[in-house]
Amino acid sequence: MTRAVVAGVGAYLPRTRVSNDALAEKVDTSDDWIRSRTGIGARHIAAADESCAMMATEAARLALAQAGATAAEVDGVIVATATPDQAFPATATRVQAGLGMTRGFGFDVSAACSGFIYALSVADAMIRAGQARTLLVIGAEVFSRLMNWQDRTTCVLFGDGAGAVLLRAQNGTDGRGILSTHLHADGTLGDLLYVDGAVGQPERSGTLVMNGREIFRHAVVKLAETVEEALAAHGLDPSAVDWLVPHQANLRIIEAMGKRLSLPAERVVVTVDRHANTSAASIPLALAEAVNDGRIKPGDLVVMEALGGGLTWGSALVRM
Ligand code: UT7
Repeated sequence: MTRAVVAGVGAYLPRTRVSNDALAEKVDTSDDWIRSRTGIGARHIAAADESCAMMATEAARLALAQAGATAAEVDGVIVATATPDQAFPATATRVQAGLGMTRGFGFDVSAACSGFIYALSVADAMIRAGQARTLLVIGAEVFSRLMNWQDRTTCVLFGDGAGAVLLRAQNGTDGRGILSTHLHADGTLGDLLYVDGAVGQPERSGTLVMNGREIFRHAVVKLAETVEEALAAHGLDPSAVDWLVPHQANLRIIEAMGKRLSLPAERVVVTVDRHANTSAASIPLALAEAVNDGRIKPGDLVVMEALGGGLTWGSALVRM
């Protein structure tokens, strides 16, 4: 059986770190409110020269290096982003250019905060189908450019960054690779979290609008369901899971998911305290951190889950 194996990971965080206290000098908020409601302590904010494509390219470079691969081997680049630098060409093709690639394919996936799970799912299907053998899957976001910096209910929650994985087709029975992905969307809930404007609506603000309380309610239920379906698809008990690498929106949601899996806190990868919510970048950033610091090891079973605008949500079960 051919499986898509994670051969390398990489991450890029903008140079500028903004603490809650620094934010509270500009907006009517406090470190105490942000920490107690979300677990967020700081976020990284992209400078003018840190574009979505630039951050994605840097994360991709590191994933390639870790895998001992060259860009020439890559069959395709898939970037999950809701904040591309341009409507087109796709960020993925800008990454190709940054890596010096002149062959293969590149396209973006738009599924807001669930984007990385969606992109991973597409890449996994392509590798299983024999359409590609080596793929870069990247989550990259500059949500700071979508913020209404006067709206304290949203601007304190998000940050910028990029994370990447290099997937390689592997034939064999050592059990490694993406075991399955599970995608969902309910478009009738689209008005709970959206960006007010785009190319087709230039008169709108172009900033993020969120009904946080409702999103929270949906997240706790839907994320638990999709993690359960991922385990059930393989007849696995939660005790089989080594690591939860969740989307990083709110520490309270993350802790609730950890409890459902009966995982001790040290088996749940948390970056929301330092990165805030980086949308599609949050899972690959968290994965890269835990692989690079030696916590996640080859053979470990990892559950990933995310929910975001759409609403979109989903999970992935990966044997590292
Ligand atoms: O990645 C996409 C998925 N997104 C999520 O999963 C986000 C899910 N939602 C959440 O994480 C939480 O709902 C929030 C963190 C967004 C909000 O927390 P909450 O406990 O639901 O607070 P709330 O919206 O009910 O607001 C409580 C109070 C309000 O004041 P009143 O009306 O009770 O007087 C807000 O005006 O907190 C006030 N508030 C703030 N105060 C200080 C809202 N934002 C702030 C702020 N600083 N930044």
